[in-house]
Amino acid sequence: MEEKIRIYIDAIASFTASDPGEVELFRLKYLGRKGILNELFEEFKLIPNEQKREAGKSLNLLKEAVNKRLEELKEEFARVDVAMKGDVDDLTKPVHHHDPGTRHPLSITRNRIIEIFSRIGYTVAEGPEIEDDWHNFTALNFPPEHPARDMQDTFFIAKDPDIALRTHTSSVQIRTMEREKPPIRKLLPGRVFRNEAISARAHCIFHQVEGLYVDKGVSFADLKQNLLYFAREMFGKDTRIRLRPSYFPFTEPSGEMDISCNICKGEGCNICKYTGWVEILGCGMVDPQVLANCGIDPDVYTGFAFGMGIERVTMLRYQVRDLRLFFENDIRFLEQFRGAR
Ligand code: DAH
Repeated sequence: MEEKIRIYIDAIASFTASDPGEVELFRLKYLGRKGILNELFEEFKLIPNEQKREAGKSLNLLKEAVNKRLEELKEEFARVDVAMKGDVDDLTKPVHHHDPGTRHPLSITRNRIIEIFSRIGYTVAEGPEIEDDWHNFTALNFPPEHPARDMQDTFFIAKDPDIALRTHTSSVQIRTMEREKPPIRKLLPGRVFRNEAISARAHCIFHQVEGLYVDKGVSFADLKQNLLYFAREMFGKDTRIRLRPSYFPFTEPSGEMDISCNICKGEGCNICKYTGWVEILGCGMVDPQVLANCGIDPDVYTGFAFGMGIERVTMLRYQVRDLRLFFENDIRFLEQFRGAR
């Protein structure tokens, strides 16, 4: 009998089940009414008294072994059960695919502009989108009757003629010069607002980057060199630039910069309106009065400034023909910029 029990104990230790039903069959096999244990107890009654002590011990060991194995198996299946219900993460499951999304093309272009200018010493600063008349107009030499102040162009806030959404990032030039003393070499990106009808070429919200360099002895030649460097880095090594005289109240002299059309390479296409050139920014030497308005002595310091539209640069860079695409957030458009930073 003891030999038999030893064999049972070995079998119990190595028993495995693939589902709770098999565990139940295992239980009945040993502990059921007609099970092995009851059978052995019947045998036990018949053995001679002097052997009962040892046989009894063995029987108890067998019973313990069955109960212990049953406990283990129950626990195992309880764990599987919880994992299947999702209460506990199953660490063996394949990972969920996470789509990291794409960067917006305007952000990609802004980052690229910042990166190019940061290589020649420009650092970034920002200013408020809600601006007062002084920073957006007056300090920039806009006379009171200037048409840019007109209700047509400017979004005023709460009937207060002094507070408006900034119409350009040039306001941040003023804030920078009021706060810092030369040398100043800043890049000022941001969102601007104009009360304009929305079309393929214009929007009431768009983005600009302003550049500002003020120090002793800054000249127009420095401006031109910085802009040529930028144009080549942004649009390719063969890009040429051309500066046309222009007018802005806050620069004197003022210019507008064209780049050679990077789409038709000067042959003429509808992007450059068959001229071979496309306009990308306004620029000039900071007007001495503007320096003085900010507490910088124009007899000691000179400076240059430039400002460009991020939408325009992005359209040229990626040949996007309708500016509204940047604001619609159509995933089919945005996904085309996957991977770009
Ligand atoms: N603020 C001008 C605009 O919004 C752009 C501009 C022109 C900025 C000339 C400048 C500049 O800094 O020097 O149209």
